[in-house]
Amino acid sequence: MARVRKQPVRSSEDVRDGFDALAELYYAYWGEFFHLAIFEKGDDPADVAAAYERTHERYFAAIGGATATRVLELACGGGALSAWMADRTAGEVVGVDFSSRQLAHAAKRVARRQRPNLRFVRHDIMHLAHLDEGCFDAAICLDAACYLPDRGAALRQVATCLQPGARLLLVDWCRSEQATTLQRELLLEPLCRYWAIAELGCVSGYRTAFRAAGFRVVKVEDLSEHVMANWERGYHAALRALAEPIGVTRLLGMSAARVRHGARFVQAAKDQVQVALLAKAAAESGALRYVSVLAERRRG
Ligand SMILES: C[S@@+](CC[C@H](N)C(=O)[O-])C[C@H]1O[C@@H](n2cnc3c(N)ncnc32)[C@H](O)[C@@H]1O
Repeated sequence: MARVRKQPVRSSEDVRDGFDALAELYYAYWGEFFHLAIFEKGDDPADVAAAYERTHERYFAAIGGATATRVLELACGGGALSAWMADRTAGEVVGVDFSSRQLAHAAKRVARRQRPNLRFVRHDIMHLAHLDEGCFDAAICLDAACYLPDRGAALRQVATCLQPGARLLLVDWCRSEQATTLQRELLLEPLCRYWAIAELGCVSGYRTAFRAAGFRVVKVEDLSEHVMANWERGYHAALRALAEPIGVTRLLGMSAARVRHGARFVQAAKDQVQVALLAKAAAESGALRYVSVLAERRRG
């Protein structure tokens, strides 16, 4: 059996500091959404905006967002999806994240265009039971659960905020249960190290954790084959970043970020190039999976 070597446990503060530090870099190099876009056969891989639009429509329909009265976005980052959802429901949308830099980005978005049904709250998902926001009838969490120190405990916390029958869609980076020892050692472990992830989850682990937290699993989908164009995009963005001469604007931006976030920022920014190379290799090898779990909070 393959040996599973866990990464040294990073504290929530490490993860939060990382997202604080890298927020602007991600927005500059990746865009407003930190999750992956789904591409169907025949879609133009260069039309990323259209793919995101279809992806969001699909996710929003899955949680019944249009008719929900209160929608919770867990780990909302810069708030782009929360804003997208607020434009498509008469219900209230609350975005929660623990990174102040991400939420500063979300605040700028709100300042640009007021949406009376949209709010952002700074909070740690691991302590959601203390979130003084009442109950929600739909929830979504994209590309963030892998950072949580204990996914089972997090799901139990999420359950406390959901009404019976409420739907939760969780999309996460997972490891293949068939990943070889070498794939783990050479691809997944370094990827986790760069990303401050203790250990990637897997489909069977999620099924068990959802059930134990009081959810009925409605549908599990492996979306890996549909998100390959994203890894390709990240890979080419990394190569471009390496090829470009460092201009004055970028240098000034990097220096300002170094002053704000410390020397660790420069290393973390450089690490993102390695991440892009590793992620493409890990996805193409089949070891890294992109999985969605749609679940319903059990009644009674
Ligand atoms: C890769 S980003 C995804 C952001 C957003 N869901 C999206 O798809 O654009 C991961 C986000 O998870 C947030 N996050 C990680 N752990 C968290 C926690 N324990 N509580 C709240 N937010 C957390 C980070 O601050 C970051 O904004």
